[in-house]
Amino acid sequence: MIPVILSGGSGSRLWPLSRKQYPKQFLALTSERTLFQQTLQRLNFEGMQSPIVVCNQEHRFIVKEQLEAIGLNIQGLLLEPFGRNTAPAIALTAMKLLAEGRDELLLILPADHVIADQQAFQQALKVAAQAAEMGELVLFGIPAHSPETGYGYIKCDLAVQGTLPEGSNRVLQFVEKPDLARAREFVESGNYFWNSGVFLFRASRFLEELKEHDPDIYDNCLLTLERSEPHDDEVKIDPATFACCPDNSIDYAVMEKTRHACAVPLCAGWSDVGCWASIWEVHDKDENGNVVKGDVILHDTRDSLVHSNGKLVTVIGLDNVVVVETKDATMVVHKDRVQDVKKLVKILDDQG
Ligand code: GDD
Ligand code: MG
Repeated sequence: MIPVILSGGSGSRLWPLSRKQYPKQFLALTSERTLFQQTLQRLNFEGMQSPIVVCNQEHRFIVKEQLEAIGLNIQGLLLEPFGRNTAPAIALTAMKLLAEGRDELLLILPADHVIADQQAFQQALKVAAQAAEMGELVLFGIPAHSPETGYGYIKCDLAVQGTLPEGSNRVLQFVEKPDLARAREFVESGNYFWNSGVFLFRASRFLEELKEHDPDIYDNCLLTLERSEPHDDEVKIDPATFACCPDNSIDYAVMEKTRHACAVPLCAGWSDVGCWASIWEVHDKDENGNVVKGDVILHDTRDSLVHSNGKLVTVIGLDNVVVVETKDATMVVHKDRVQDVKKLVKILDDQG
């Protein structure tokens, strides 16, 4: 089994700490190790090969530095000139391995998640590996307990086991990022899992499904790889060909369409650390429910996250706020509105 670490996202919902030049996966947000380093350390156990990392070429040196700091090696680095989302990133990796005659099981992992219970994670992997050996595309599902709109939703057939391994279930429906009304409906029905964003499948099986459901991505990636330069264990993805590749995630391109998906529940303290509210959630809180970092003084303030990187930051009489101070930007946002940070970053990008 080869882990493939997807590390090309920009983490815009964690602005102003997460920046394009230095996105959230490379920040130490939840422990003294960065999310990227924690992801790699989680995979350092028997039976797991060393990982392949797919990232933006601008982050190549950050990746190398962070690997060196934890003393771990990888077996390959795919360097994208720009992001085309997760379906092309995975396709290029699968195609490269197949071209080397290595039709292996690929464990696709986001670089920016927290999984607290290592044992439960490894247990889920064992079940998933049996299903993937049978040709299934395996998703890892988190029991959905609130109507988050940033996740994929998985409905499983829990009644019929069929021929799938025990502990895995046929996926009846996959809906990527539903609107709030649909997300509420799903959670209230009690039959849905969130998609963790971790997948396991054989390289050739993923490519067969991609070819069927999104032939444009398939064809483009095949051509892109042919025209890309390999240097030892690194591949520099050809920008001219890759520029014509549709931008799409594995979730929309394949998982919503395939009839060969099965889900394994992952009850392992998973968090995607996708926004400031989830950073607040994964941290230990003080007696008022606050998470503070740096030079901070709070008075009559509850359930808030206040993060200073230099200046003294004070908050009085507010609940459920997120305040993040950095050298060149300070953000104050209600904890219920942290998803909108992405919109703010878009405004900033548009202003150049
Ligand atoms: N190499 C590469 N290139 N990596 C990428 C790219 C790209 O163009 N785009 C995103 N990634 C990486 C991100 O860094 C992250 O680690 C992972 O792929 C997933 O991308 P996100 O952009 O964070 O996806 P999402 O959070 O909106 O949605 C996905 O994850 C959710 C769980 O966190 C989906 O799989 C959802 O269904 C899922 O619920
Ligand atoms: Mg994400």
